This record gives sequence, C-alpha cells and structure tokens, in this order.
Amino acid sequence: FSLKPYNTFGIAAFAAQFIEIDSEEALVHLFYNRKNQTKQPFLILGGGSNILFTKDFTGLVIHIGIPGISHRISDTKILVTAGAGVIWNDLVWYCVDRNFAGIENMALIPGTVGAAPVQNIGAYGTELKDVFISCRVFDTKSGEISTFYKDDCQFSYRDSLFKKQAKGRYIITQVTLELSLTPSINTSYGAIHSELAKRNITHPTIKDIAEVVSAIRTDKLPDPSTIGNSGSFFKNPIITVQHLKQLQFTFQDMNFVYYPVDESHVKLAAGWLIEQCGWKGKRIGDAGTWKNQALVLVNHKNASGSDIYNLSERIIRDVEEKFNITLEREVNII
Ligand code: EPU
Repeated sequence: FSLKPYNTFGIAAFAAQFIEIDSEEALVHLFYNRKNQTKQPFLILGGGSNILFTKDFTGLVIHIGIPGISHRISDTKILVTAGAGVIWNDLVWYCVDRNFAGIENMALIPGTVGAAPVQNIGAYGTELKDVFISCRVFDTKSGEISTFYKDDCQFSYRDSLFKKQAKGRYIITQVTLELSLTPSINTSYGAIHSELAKRNITHPTIKDIAEVVSAIRTDKLPDPSTIGNSGSFFKNPIITVQHLKQLQFTFQDMNFVYYPVDESHVKLAAGWLIEQCGWKGKRIGDAGTWKNQALVLVNHKNASGSDIYNLSERIIRDVEEKFNITLEREVNII
C-alpha cells in the first residue's frame, strides 16, 4: 500500500497493510480482533504532516479519519469538540466563522486535530495547550477509552506525554477546546504586527488574524501539495543565558535571534542558526532547505526519506561544530 499520498513530505514508502478508521467503535473493534492474531507492529497516521518515512513500514498503518465538529456555549465560554480526523485548519475556520476566539493564530498549520496534542502545536504566539481542555484516547494496551485532561498530557514546547513515555500507546480520537466569545487579540508576534500595518488594520478581528497568519505562512512556507515538507524539521533549541553570552562573545558581528524562556534560559531560532551555517536554500539532490525558511526541509521531487534524513544529519553536525548546539528533530522518523 503506497503511503505517498499520506505523508506531506511526499515520500514513496509502502506499508504492508493499511486501514482507515472513522469511529471509536471501529478502533476498539480493530484492536479487539488483533488480540487473537500474531502481534504485528502498527503505526498511527493522521495528516502525515509530522513524519518522515526512511523505509517501508512492515506492519499495519492505521489512518485516523474520525470526523465531526460540535460546540456548546455557556456564558462567554465555548467548548468545541472535534474528531481526531478533522483537518486542523477546518476547525480553525469553523471557530473563526462563529467568532469563537483562541485558535486564530494557529490558522493553516497542516495536519489533523488528533495530531495537535501530540506535539502541542503552536504558531505566532499561541500554543494548543492555551485552549486545550481534554481529549478522548484509546489505550492500545488495555483496549479502553478514557479522557485525558490538560494536566494529564504534560504539555511543553512541541512536546507532550504522547511523544514521551507513552509514545505509541494511546490513540487520540477526539479533542475538546475552550474558546472565548470575548477575544483577546494576540498580535505579540512581530510578523503579525507588520502584516496588519501593511493592510492598514488597526483593530483586528479574529478573522483578520486568521487571514494575516495564513498569508504569512503561505508566503514563508512551502505548500506541501507542490513541494513536499513537514513544516519545521527541528525544534528551536533552548540554551542557557550563559551559553548565549559565550556565543555572543565569540561571534561579535552576529545578531543572535532568541526569545526569553525563563530567567536562565533562552530559545534560539533554529532557522537562523541553520542559515548562518550556509544551508538556507541549499540542496543535495532533491533534498534541500526552503529558500525562505531554512528550518523547513523540503523534497524537491524525488528525494527518499533517507536523503532528507542524511541532509538533516549534516545540518545537525554543522550547527554543532559552529555553535556547540545540538538541534533536535521535531519530525517523527520512521
Ligand atoms: N530566521 C532566519 N532564517 C531562516 C529562518 C528564520 O534568520 O531561514 C529567523 C528570522 O529572524 C525570524 C526568526 O528566525 O524572525 C523566527 O522565524 P519564524 O518566525 O519563521 O519562526 P520559527 O521560530 O522559525 C516557529 C515554529 C513554527 C511557527 C513559527 C511562527 C518551531 C520549531 N517552529 O518557527 O512552527 O509557524 O515559529 O510562530 O517552533 C512547525 O512547527 O512546523 C512550524 C512551522
């Protein structure tokens, strides 16, 4: 079964078996039946926007397509619930169209609702955890469905329980967010600010924010339907303030791009580090970095997963040699 249409990198990998799941019942049923069979590895796939296949998958790929969006209103709060298979951006516009505020800064992030908690998606000043209430999960160990609340999920920057100790154990089937009817517009991110100014918008609505964010992303990031990619390939590294000071001393002519994390830590822009190592817009065969954003690795056409992976190794090595910082991949490698 070809996985090419199911990963945004457009890698031509194959799975031994593939199944589409459109309800919790179907999922429970699938695992109940698997009990009596020889254990074959499985892999959960949503939008395939955060995964790099470096080889074929010898087991069963389970594609989660659980649909549906609904909402309940109480006072100024709204609870919005969506099936794991809903396209994240469709959920954003469902909310923006109804004036439910809170996720407009995350417009156009590729992928599905079910994948959003796994890496605590975020962009332009907002993270999923800011609005997250709970998710329903299927436990592949016990075969039971339960509800995980925010504290259970151990969210941090591009990370959660689902990427750590419980990796591969739970399948998210549904997500519930709390949004607001009285928006607090977040324009803290510089790029939003300048795009609004360009459009002469002084009092932005959440629709303006969603549109502006979409425009910035379209401008800066490659469209996966034409150039394979999975957004940021690496996480932005967090280093100590002391390390930053050393770097600023060593490279006095460089303007390090960083954001404060806490009193003793800062987060550096990995794209900037990669660009300083001369990798921006470069390619080796069909594997490259994007011309407008060096943090995004791209498949220009026929790169294999290993081509992309090998490029990422070279980038990690160069950044390490120059800055003594080890970039961590954000994308899941299979
Ligand atoms: N920069 C460069 N050269 C580059 C890329 C970036 O110098 O090639 C510098 C620029 O100065 C820019 C700064 O880095 O101002 C930050 O770049 P950008 O605004 O594009 O954000 P980022 O830190 O590279 C993060 C997220 C993105 C998210 C944006 C906007 C991570 C790993 N990435 O990127 O998320 O859209 O912020 O909030 O945290 C994703 O996770 O897939 C993703 C696209």
